[in-house]
Order: sequence, then C-alpha cells, then structure tokens
Amino acid sequence: MNRLYKDISRTRNVHTCCTLLKETPRNLKGKKHDSQLWLMRQLRDPYVEKAKQENYRCRSAFKLLQINEKHNILSPGVTVVDCGAAPGSWTQVAVNTTNAHGKENSPIGKVYAVDKLPFYPVEGATVLGNMDFTNAKTQETLLKLLHGNKVDVVLSDMAPNASGMKQLDHDNIIALAYAAMKFALRISKAQGALVIKLWDGGKSSELEQDLLRFYDSVKVIRPDATRDESTEQFFLARGFKGIKTQ
Ligand SMILES: C[S@@+](CC[C@H](N)C(=O)[O-])C[C@H]1O[C@@H](n2cnc3c(N)ncnc32)[C@H](O)[C@@H]1O
Repeated sequence: MNRLYKDISRTRNVHTCCTLLKETPRNLKGKKHDSQLWLMRQLRDPYVEKAKQENYRCRSAFKLLQINEKHNILSPGVTVVDCGAAPGSWTQVAVNTTNAHGKENSPIGKVYAVDKLPFYPVEGATVLGNMDFTNAKTQETLLKLLHGNKVDVVLSDMAPNASGMKQLDHDNIIALAYAAMKFALRISKAQGALVIKLWDGGKSSELEQDLLRFYDSVKVIRPDATRDESTEQFFLARGFKGIKTQ
C-alpha cells in the first residue's frame, strides 16, 4: 500500500462537504497532499459517479435516498424544510419524492431549503441561500413563508466547517442539531419526522434522550453512502408528540 492510500484510510473524523468532481485528474503531481487525498477518494467513490449520472449535485443525495428507501419519510404531497441544503442534492431528492415540482400526477408537496452559503435554485423548491439557520431572522423568514402551515418533515444535514479536532467538531454539530430540533418543535405537524446529521461523540446520547421527550421514537441511521472513515450518523425522530402549551 503506498503512502497516499494509507493516509486515506487513516483520515478518520475528517468531514468534507460534498462537491462533485467535475474532471478526472490525470496527474496528481504538484497538488498539495490534502488535495491529492481528496481527489483519490473521489475517484474511488462509486457514489460520486452515480451522482453525476443521475444529475444530483453531490453524492449526499444517496444518503437521503437510502434513508427514505428504508424509512419512507418522504412521499408526494408532504411539506419539507431542508436545513443546511447547499449545494442542493437533498433538496433535489426532497422535490422529486414529494412532487414539489408538480411533474407527477400525485399530490404536490412543498420544499423549503436553507443554507448559509449561496446555492443555485432547485426547480420546485423555495431556496434561501446566504442565510444562517441559527439566526432568528432566517427562522422568521421561514415561518413567514409557511404562513402558519405545519411541516411533515424537517431535515438537517447541517455541518460546521470541520477543524479536525473531534471534540470541537462534535460540539459544533451538536449545537446545529439542537437549533434544528428547536425549530422543528415549532413548525412540525403532529406525527411529523425529523432527520438530523451528527458526528458521533459524547453528547449524542443526550440529544437522543432530548428528542425522545418530543418524538415517539429515535433511530440511529448510518446510510451505506456515508463514507467508511466518517463518524457521521443520522438521528431519525418520528411521531412528533407536540408541545404542551398552558
Ligand atoms: C453536508 S453539507 C449539506 C449537503 C446538502 N444536504 C446536499 O445534499 O447538497 C452541510 C451544509 O451545512 C451548511 N451549514 C452549516 N452551518 C449552517 C448554518 N448555521 N446555517 C445554514 N447552513 C449551515 C453548510 O454551509 C453546508 O452547505
């Protein structure tokens, strides 16, 4: 095994966002070591090629497709809020599965997608780029767009920029997870579902317990499309019980 391959298999807890590799690199010489690792990993990854073939903006699409295949959370006519949506592959999946584009002869869903980065529109979705989800203004904007209607599914694939320091990255993603959960509690229909991405660590079980206060069940999911070296997992909380108001 050469050094490059050894390093690839050693890069645990390193999380990168999903950008499609546009070209096949012919020559890795002259590239920084990290870039070489990234390129080699992309080349060896079947989901990168599959995403290209199926017109998804990135390989992450297959994570949501696999979650949905097994757990059936998305169907025609449902309303979805997609947090941390750029570059938009989960939004594409959400639009297709809920028929938010109205292309199928079935109930028409709605998809609202938000990210702190700008991203290109997805036909059939309401896309809010350049908006930090943790900012109150962003959440107010989403609430206005919903016009008081409740949501069937909240998705959070939000992830902070990874520092490589496991504890810090875990703490940061947990903060995003709680932001998604708190917002979901405000906007979800009874029996609604919530999918939250996590990088596993010491605070995961506390989050799971907190979710169980408001949802009937919480499943820990690791889709096949999650990279082997990643600590990524998803919590799927189902059966929103509502919040008691006095
Ligand atoms: C793994 S990527 C999401 C990929 C996306 N689900 C897709 O399939 O195309 C994580 C995203 O979370 C976003 N993010 C991180 N913190 C955020 C925040 N506070 N508000 C909104 N988006 C955030 C990042 O900008 C990044 O685009």
